[in-house]
Amino acid sequence: MKNSNKRLLINSGALLSGIFAVFSGFLIQFGYHVGEHGTIAANKLVLNSDYEGWTNIHKISIVLLSVFMIFHIIQHWTWYKTIIKKNLITKNKQVFILTTLFILVAITGYIPWIIDLCGNDQTTRKIILEIHDKLTIILFIFLILHLTKRLKWFISTLRRIKTD
Ligand code: HEM
Ligand code: HEM
Repeated sequence: MKNSNKRLLINSGALLSGIFAVFSGFLIQFGYHVGEHGTIAANKLVLNSDYEGWTNIHKISIVLLSVFMIFHIIQHWTWYKTIIKKNLITKNKQVFILTTLFILVAITGYIPWIIDLCGNDQTTRKIILEIHDKLTIILFIFLILHLTKRLKWFISTLRRIKTD
């Protein structure tokens, strides 16, 4: 597969799974967490689905997004190495903040999931998820900045593929 097609496939996959992840994440946050003081109204329906349904959507989209992000980062591995080697991190701080935030959000999401699967301490799980909730708000801002700056890339790549 041509490199530009591969890039389009990965970036579009990241975009689509990212939309589902962000939407389901904020829906759980504002529909079930905010104002609940520890107890979640799990049977409450929001947009025709209950709490379990939305957490499942979040988990599926997050796993897909994580796979696309691994490929996305691998594709830019040389970019990261060059920027670090040439000491250009401050000039590219937005992408570096985004990278760090994504890793922190992933850690504060996957650890509670593992804790839950192992049937361990729910208090620790909830504390880490509280941090996850807060970090995702900052991540969202940086994702929007990242995407608006690269919208042109999507348009020009689609145009190029059409005329090829
Ligand atoms: C919804 C998720 C995302 C989408 C759709 C997306 C899309 C894009 C696009 C279209 C480009 C420019 C074309 C290219 O070089 O492939 C790009 C560049 C890049 N992205 Fe992402 N991205 C996403 C999330 C992320 C995240 C979370 C990180 C970091 C963990 C990241 C790191 C980078 C890097 C390092 C570059 C190259 C440098 C640059 O263009 O400034 N991206 N991304
Ligand atoms: C703006 C983006 C995001 C928002 C608003 C968000 C929000 C949330 C919320 C509210 C929960 C709690 C669900 C519950 O009550 O059980 C959650 C769980 C989770 N999140 Fe996110 N999240 C986002 C992005 C991410 C990302 C990027 C990852 C990983 C790459 C991730 C991984 C997880 C995982 C694995 C869980 C399950 C934790 C568990 O069940 O113990 N999330 N997220």
